[in-house]
Amino acid sequence: MSNLAIAANGLRKSYGDKVVLDGVDLNVPEGTVFSLLGPNGAGKTTAVKILSTLVSADPGSGSIHVGGHDLSTDPQAARAAIGVTGQFSAVDGLITGEENMLLMADLHHLSKREGRRTAAELLERFDLVEAAKKPASTYSGGMKRRLDIAMTLVGNPRIIFLDEPTTGLDPRARHNMWQIIRELITDGVTVFLTTQYLDEADELADRIAVLNNGTIVAQGTAEELKRLIPGGHVRLRFTDPAAYQNAAAVLSDAAPDDEALALQLPSDGSQRELRSVLDRLDSAGIEADELSVHTPDLDDVFFTLTGAGAGIPAQSKENVR
Ligand SMILES: Nc1ncnc2c1ncn2[C@@H]1O[C@H](COP(=O)(O)OP(=O)(O)OP(=O)(O)O)[C@@H](O)[C@H]1O
Ligand SMILES: [Mg+2]
Repeated sequence: MSNLAIAANGLRKSYGDKVVLDGVDLNVPEGTVFSLLGPNGAGKTTAVKILSTLVSADPGSGSIHVGGHDLSTDPQAARAAIGVTGQFSAVDGLITGEENMLLMADLHHLSKREGRRTAAELLERFDLVEAAKKPASTYSGGMKRRLDIAMTLVGNPRIIFLDEPTTGLDPRARHNMWQIIRELITDGVTVFLTTQYLDEADELADRIAVLNNGTIVAQGTAEELKRLIPGGHVRLRFTDPAAYQNAAAVLSDAAPDDEALALQLPSDGSQRELRSVLDRLDSAGIEADELSVHTPDLDDVFFTLTGAGAGIPAQSKENVR
């Protein structure tokens, strides 16, 4: 267990009779980035809150270790090892960025001098020096998120939880945030990241778990997850029904879509495969009006695993006979 920053097995949590987490295993090696992906209401924040000791798991859950400490016997020690940036900002808008930082330093029992030094250093690192003396309510979304993370780092945690750190940020601010997260990783910090953005998990995470309806429906590297679902394809569209019919005869291995006058062929998207498809059409004197190549990405994985089929409400299930 020594090399696992987070080790949780059979995590369960219900609110009333609503089962939010239904036996979830989460194991994160030290110094890696783990991303928990899932649609709204999947239970991501609940998992973060349990692992960061803010709420307790249901009795009957397996053991949970964070930073090597058992949450049931030594939550205090676990707390000392972690930092949490919640989905909803912890920034107090009424006071300045600097005051927010000093408040955190106080909470971590740093001396006045040490607190000021740490605050100054982090404000500098997160490009907030100019804004430091202004009320945080005047900050942009990206600045607030940066301040949030800066506050999380005050206690120099070795494990940090980031719950949807880039939701609501514009593309530039998102990329800035990714850069910040990469720097944390370079420092050897373990990152537990939740997100609804697949490109974000693809970009940052060593391992990804997809949470849906309270269970992990898939887990692995981005590449492993992409391999779980049917591969890529080439789609050829025609405007002339006769050309479409001819092409369908020539490419008998293609899946036809009569309505759209389109043919779909499995393909790895390589130039060689594309050329062979086009050569076959060429030799029959047919030209497609539109060609598109689709390679599977995490979006496909996500939609396949968390789509309508994966979560049919009980009522509509009964209607399917
Ligand atoms: N304190 C609570 N009391 C009752 N139900 C709760 C509570 N906290 C969460 N839930 C329910 O648990 C489920 C999972 O919520 P959670 O916030 O963990 O999802 P999430 O994956 O973080 O969603 P989002 O992407 O919207 O942030 C939801 O149905 C939510 O309504
Ligand atoms: Mg959430």
